[in-house]
This record gives sequence, structure tokens and C-alpha cells, in this order.
Amino acid sequence: MPRKVKVLVSYAQSLDGHVATATGASRWISGPESLEYAHCLRRENEAILVGSGTVVRDNPLLTCRLPGARSPRRVLLDSGLRIPLGSQVVQTAEAVPTVIFTTAQRLDQRDETVTRFEQAGVILRAVPSDTPGQLSLSAVLDTLEADGVTSLFVEGGSRVITAFLKAGLVDEWHLVMAPIIIGAGIPAVGDLGVRDLAEAYRFETRSVTHLGEDLLWKLVRRQEQR
Ligand SMILES: NC(=O)c1ccc[n+]([C@@H]2O[C@H](COP(=O)([O-])OP(=O)(O)OC[C@H]3O[C@@H](n4cnc5c(N)ncnc54)[C@H](OP(=O)(O)O)[C@@H]3O)[C@@H](O)[C@H]2O)c1
Repeated sequence: MPRKVKVLVSYAQSLDGHVATATGASRWISGPESLEYAHCLRRENEAILVGSGTVVRDNPLLTCRLPGARSPRRVLLDSGLRIPLGSQVVQTAEAVPTVIFTTAQRLDQRDETVTRFEQAGVILRAVPSDTPGQLSLSAVLDTLEADGVTSLFVEGGSRVITAFLKAGLVDEWHLVMAPIIIGAGIPAVGDLGVRDLAEAYRFETRSVTHLGEDLLWKLVRRQEQR
């Protein structure tokens, strides 16, 4: 049966394809109009997902700050439960539904970290891990679907974006490109194992518009895409 959760990937990158500097600094690559667009996506999607790397580096709130808008359910991938208990997402978990996906092995440890996450109101869910640090994204989507989620906004970071692409789970790609060059930095997309252009992941352009000084490039996955 086809999966019902629509997956939209969107993030801001530099002209040379980076989401952060080599030290991980990404605030802010894009301008205020693009930041507002990210909040529109948070309003329009039922859930927002980032990896533990982004939470540890940026300590984001991941809420929608547009007037009168509700915030999406926050979904975090964290096999080792290394997200700090003092992070904004954990500290506000009573107010905004927050799910951390981890491994059954980690959950079964039932240590103080597990207890404190639960006391903070975080929902802990176990999914299988394809390889260490790579939770099964299909299992994550199946769980979200069972919870009634129909739309997921994947905001980053690099490893998570790469994994969704590699797993063939991306429906839409909204690329925000800012007129800035970083040089050595964290690439938006890592190694996909593409060695021949015939193996490249291809998209179709739906629109290209301006967001202030930035460009918003909306793409959809090609039908024949793996
Ligand atoms: N420009 C932008 O729009 C934007 C947006 C977001 C983030 N960023 C930047 O991106 C950087 C963080 O990116 P990152 O690549 O280091 O970290 P990330 O993609 O946010 O998180 C990666 C971590 O997620 C966990 N994970 C669990 N299952 C996974 C799976 N199937 N695939 C991938 N990851 C999985 C792994 O850690 P565990 O072992 O803990 O499970 C992995 O190391 C930061 O510098 C941040 O500022 C930029």
C-alpha cells in the first residue's frame, strides 16, 4: 500500500551548496523572507523532523512563530539519546508534542536519561536501526502514519537530508538558495553513492521565485525516480 505521509524537504543553502560553515554555524544563511517561509512550512505540515546533530548544534525550538498558527509535532532522530535534557525542544515538550525516535536497545536501558525525557513530556519511540546512527526512516514514517500524520517537513541537517534522499522517501524539495558563498562547509547533501550521471537523483521544477534576496526553487521527485 502506498505510504500516506507526504515528505517535503526544505532548507537554506549557500550558492556553493552548503547548509553550514565547517564549524556548523548556519544562522543565518538566508534572509528574513526565507525564515518566514520556513515558518509557513511549519504551519502547513503536521510534523517537522530534524536529526540530533541539528538539535545539539543549534538548539532550535522548531515551533511556528506566525501569529495564530499552531506548531507542528516535533520529530527528532536520536539513536543514542544524546539530545540535551536542557534543550529547548525538551524543555517545551509539555506544550508542543515532541517525539524522539531511538533504538529499542537504548530505550530498554531504562536509565535516568530515559526517565527524565519521559518526565519532561517527550514521547520516546523505538524503531530498528539500519546501521549505527541510521534509524530506519521507513519505520519512522510508518509510525508517524499510524499516529495520523499525513505531512512531514524535513528541515535538516545534512545527514538527515541525505538519508531521506537515499531512501527514496522525498516527495517535494523546496530549496532556498541564498546569495552567499561559504567555501569549505557542511554540504546540503552528502555522498549518495552516485558514480554515473544515470544514477543521479532527478527532480522536476515546479516554480522558481524570489524570497527577498534569496531564491525559492520548488521541485518534485520524478516519477521514474528510484
Ligand atoms: N541551513 C539550513 O537550513 C539547516 C537546517 C538544519 C540544520 N542545519 C545545519 O546542519 C548541521 C547539522 O547537520 P548534521 O548532518 O551534522 O546532523 P543532522 O542531520 O541534524 O543529524 C544527524 C544525526 O541524526 C541521527 N540519525 C538517526 N537516524 C538517522 C538517519 N536515518 N539518517 C541520518 N541521521 C540519523 C544520527 O545521530 P544519532 O547517532 O544521535 O542517532 C545522525 O548523526 C548543523 O550545522 C545545522 O546548523 C542547517
